[in-house]
Amino acid sequence: MKNILHVSCSPRGETAESSKLAQKIIGFLRQKEPTAIVVNRVIGDGTLSHIDKDYAISQGSSADVSQEGSMAQSEELIRELEAADVVVIGTPMHNFTVPSVLKAWIDHVVRARRTFNTTRAGKVGTLRDRPVFIAIASGGRFSGERARQPDFLTPYLKAILATIGLHDLTFFSVQGTGAAPEAVVESRIEADHALQAYFSASPAITSTVLKERAI
Ligand SMILES: Cc1cc2nc3c(=O)[nH]c(=O)nc-3n(C[C@H](O)[C@H](O)[C@H](O)COP(=O)(O)O)c2cc1C
Repeated sequence: MKNILHVSCSPRGETAESSKLAQKIIGFLRQKEPTAIVVNRVIGDGTLSHIDKDYAISQGSSADVSQEGSMAQSEELIRELEAADVVVIGTPMHNFTVPSVLKAWIDHVVRARRTFNTTRAGKVGTLRDRPVFIAIASGGRFSGERARQPDFLTPYLKAILATIGLHDLTFFSVQGTGAAPEAVVESRIEADHALQAYFSASPAITSTVLKERAI
């Protein structure tokens, strides 16, 4: 059985533009692997707390700290990530970057001496690489000629997920959701074409990956 981990980051839940885009990605993945199990980790509702004192201490030293609280939460989230063959993150852009709930999830899964080690050469990830699809929704445009704002979201996710060993990232987006309704429809169509092109041009990517990276 194969596992798809879906991390849902919008406060708007299932009606969110990023959630709908993430669901389309999951749909394509499931066409290749109909028996795949989708594990939904909903964090957009704000229920994931920020890291606590013991966790912060543990990141700065190898001192013994309580394994409860954030340490336990971190372990649960990391195991969920480790068990996934494919990860799908649905996220809005908030203030040019990831929403704070996604940052909180990152703070839990990017953990010293667990998902990365610090070496003379820098931080080295311990997780097995696997495909990560990121579905982004943004009110304005952050890429292409019509972009009028900086993008700290995609470079940040590339850098931070690489730190724990996840390098195989693919981004899809519906940009300009704050524009006129016709323009939003156009952006959704653009995203649909990009998905279609990606999944039909690379049938091996999903099917091979899902088959070869069994848990
Ligand atoms: C707190 C907050 C900050 C936002 N910051 C940006 C931003 O920096 N750039 C942008 O293009 N849109 C921004 N938006 C708009 C959202 O990205 C946009 O509404 C998006 O479609 C929401 O996606 P969702 O439906 O998946 O939640 C922001 C929205 C909120 C609530």
